[in-house]
Amino acid sequence: MTSTPDDVSAGRAAGATGYLEDPAPGYGALPPRCTFTSTAARLPLDGDWRFHLAPTVGAAPAGFQLPDYDDAGWDLLPVPSSWPMHGHGRPAYTNVVYPFPVDPPYVPTDNPTGSFRRVFDVPDTWQDTDAVLRFDGVDSCARVWLNGRELGVIKGSRLPSEFSVREALKVGENVLAVEVHQWSAGSYLEDQDMWWLPGIFRSVAVVRRPPASITDFFVHADFDHLSCQGTLRIEVQADCPVRLVIDELGITDRPADEVFVIDDVEPWTAETPRLYDGELVTDDERVPIRIGFRTVAIVDGQLTVNGRPILIRGVNRHEHHPDFGRAVPTEAMREDLLLMKRHNVNAIRTSHYPPHPAMLDLCDELGFWVIDECDLETHGFHLLDWKRNPSDDPVWAPAYLDRMHRTVERDKNHPSIVLWSLGNESHTGANLAAMANWTRDRDSSRPIHYEGDAACEYVDVYSRMYASPSEVELIGKREEEQHPNVDAATDAKRRSMPFILCEYGHAMGNGPGGLSEYQELFERYPRCQGGFIWEWLDHGIRQHTADGREFFAYGGDFGEPIHDGNFVIDGLVFPNRTPSPGLLEFKKVIEPVVMNGADGSLVIENHYDFVTTAHLIFRWTLESEGEPVADGLLAVPPVGAGQRHEVALPKLPRTDAESWLTVQAVLVADEPWAAAGHEVAWTQVQVRRRDPEPTPTGRRPQLRSDHIVFGPGVFDAARGELRRLGGLEVSGPRLDLWRAPTDNDRGGEHPEEGWWRGNGLHRLQHRTIDVKLGRTELVVHTRVAPPALGFGAYVTYRWQANETGLALTVQVEPRGQWPDSVPRIGLRMRVPSTVDSVEFFGLGPGESYPDSDRAVRVGRYQSTVDAWQTPYVFPQENGNRSGVRWAQLTDADGLGLRIGGQPTVNVAARRWTTEDLDAARHTTDLVASDHVHVNIDAALHGLGTAACGPGVLPAYQLRPVDTTFAVTFSALPVEIEEG
Ligand code: GAL
Repeated sequence: MTSTPDDVSAGRAAGATGYLEDPAPGYGALPPRCTFTSTAARLPLDGDWRFHLAPTVGAAPAGFQLPDYDDAGWDLLPVPSSWPMHGHGRPAYTNVVYPFPVDPPYVPTDNPTGSFRRVFDVPDTWQDTDAVLRFDGVDSCARVWLNGRELGVIKGSRLPSEFSVREALKVGENVLAVEVHQWSAGSYLEDQDMWWLPGIFRSVAVVRRPPASITDFFVHADFDHLSCQGTLRIEVQADCPVRLVIDELGITDRPADEVFVIDDVEPWTAETPRLYDGELVTDDERVPIRIGFRTVAIVDGQLTVNGRPILIRGVNRHEHHPDFGRAVPTEAMREDLLLMKRHNVNAIRTSHYPPHPAMLDLCDELGFWVIDECDLETHGFHLLDWKRNPSDDPVWAPAYLDRMHRTVERDKNHPSIVLWSLGNESHTGANLAAMANWTRDRDSSRPIHYEGDAACEYVDVYSRMYASPSEVELIGKREEEQHPNVDAATDAKRRSMPFILCEYGHAMGNGPGGLSEYQELFERYPRCQGGFIWEWLDHGIRQHTADGREFFAYGGDFGEPIHDGNFVIDGLVFPNRTPSPGLLEFKKVIEPVVMNGADGSLVIENHYDFVTTAHLIFRWTLESEGEPVADGLLAVPPVGAGQRHEVALPKLPRTDAESWLTVQAVLVADEPWAAAGHEVAWTQVQVRRRDPEPTPTGRRPQLRSDHIVFGPGVFDAARGELRRLGGLEVSGPRLDLWRAPTDNDRGGEHPEEGWWRGNGLHRLQHRTIDVKLGRTELVVHTRVAPPALGFGAYVTYRWQANETGLALTVQVEPRGQWPDSVPRIGLRMRVPSTVDSVEFFGLGPGESYPDSDRAVRVGRYQSTVDAWQTPYVFPQENGNRSGVRWAQLTDADGLGLRIGGQPTVNVAARRWTTEDLDAARHTTDLVASDHVHVNIDAALHGLGTAACGPGVLPAYQLRPVDTTFAVTFSALPVEIEEG
């Protein structure tokens, strides 16, 4: 659907800016083709351009496209860039809603318009040759002139456009002028959940086309898994003979259009990204190509590659950088992919547009299954009940097809791409069906994905987002509900299709919880072929407070009148691309080697789809109370994909404390994405249980005027609360139920925060009923309840003591009409701010919650209160350490306390209160107080993914029921009494 040169005049006739509100695609560009490099000369035009930003199209400088226009007073702006990231205008974020009236194809008169000029020299050697001017991405619409001559108009932000410059380009000085509009008719098709960031955000170049040059090519490289033969067929478009060279395959200089059948070829898979380097050669240029032999097919209701079903361990990846917006440096792309590989991710959905072309080269090279998605989303029409949605309006058909053509043509030669996706959340309609039909004709080798085709009328895989585990289970059994609007045949067709979750596990803030439940279903039901976490990266924008402290901004921080707040902060990695606990959890949940030990042996299951475990060695370490005792290697023969193998555990020395054997599967040699020794999978086996700790007891509490002395503790006699432990001033511990709500607590159909806050759990009051001194115990009865409401809990604190320690048993008896769940059941206490070092024996090193605790392992960990905080961009509950046998909090001199679980507790420690954390909106709102605030919890409510998706699963919901738990406190350092 790319227009012919004749359309250029049609476009002009439409008026100076008529193209802006024309639903049609741009005009003037050459037919789309694949992205390739060549030995032919190329003039990169990236770098500083002259730039002027006007608030409306009308206010843009007239005549700026003329070569002699004086732009000396203009600013300089780097290309590629998103101009709001460079101080021109401001970023704006909305999810579903359009930030302008929904009146397609019209756009606001207030339409920021950037005028760009770039002067460049063409060397003499280019005399009389053809050339094209290439734009890899311009958001959202641009009109282009070279030396004052109009070349055409670009729409489709994340898609390339090329113009012939045969007539306009000259040897010597040339002036390129581009007018970029933030809003255009195309904006209606680009309502993806992300920042609105106009600009020339991908590269621009002039590429020489010598007389004997290649226009386009389509590599078909199939692999027959039965014969291990590769079949290579390249369709080349060129006005000259083209030869093919692939030395490794013995193809030295053959006509490129031959069909080559090659024996014993090594196939390409995401696990074995084997590429054969070659070249297409003409008299005037050499074009490097990389061939990956692989065949994608749907066989018996399963998505297969090279004859085997694959299991997707995927993420959705947007293109965002905290400093550069949509202009992501190649190094950051690479960093993304390396991090993914190191976290066992094997698949990427390019949500919701084709990524930078270099990203796909890296996917081919490093090995990922890719769903390449077209640049299309019209989600905002949802709020109009999909009335006037472009997807079913013939006026928009050319634009839809144009976008799909340009996606497929650009990316067709990437072996990593296994599915084409028509776009995202654009409802359904004839234009989408037409995209699917065209794609099927053009490339029958890849199935078609589009989640919005809920009835599966024109797609090849059944795709859903955020379905609950119970629904996924029904789908796995092919017993899902029938779609209301389809006949039995269409329903049967859908039921026979493979299933993927194109989005699940919404990684907003603290979470996602409940990932392992999905993974179990993916592994149990052949129809369920995995899914893609929403999403890879928090789209925060780096900012600084007036006093220079860094934070990441989200929707509303730039004064947008309409925005969706921090819903754009929902990734597995923070905006600066450091892993969040959610990524560590995902890595463990999807590990491709699963080990389980019991009764002296270890069962190793290979969950890869293709490779054996030969690239791994299996190391073991024995730790007693977290201290290493012995280590070694397990002799494990290579285990085939899908196979299991049992090995005997090593003979271990005796230990005298709780002991765990950790087995790690680590890389035996360097891989392109990680060094030898990198851990891929692990398990722990308990080899010696914990002996119960003796309860401090025997001392008698002494009443002294207004306080009670009891062992190392001094209590407030009226309240019965601990005020001093050994040399340390403390306050508390006392019952506490509140947590700073997570995004998931706030979210969706399970707004737990509302119930909790509405029931006053954030402002409980404590009434001391009585304080009783017994022979060897101190018993404090209280009632804890919110103001204004009738329900409450009777809480009994029962203390015992010896010389150095205190034992506390807490009994909680909720009575009356409580909400269904509570955030925590535990204690809070306060110690001086100098007590900021932590050592613990428990599950670590990172945070964990009941439905997100797969990534933590039993060990002994040293840290600090500061390092215990997880810097969620929108502050919320974080930092809980679970399974804590004991934790020591000390100051620089070793003064502090030891908390002992009976048998285990959860511990969190912060420099601010839960209330401060609850009130904060950015990390910089959190200011250290004079204390360290410690939570010691018997239980916590899970995390879930209710920000978008199911809430906390029943097994992880914390009910306000009668609860008894015990904990010990010892003063540190331990003073040994003389005599
Ligand atoms: C999905 C959508 C994504 C994102 C996500 C929520 O519905 O496809 O683009 O908005 O929800 O973060």
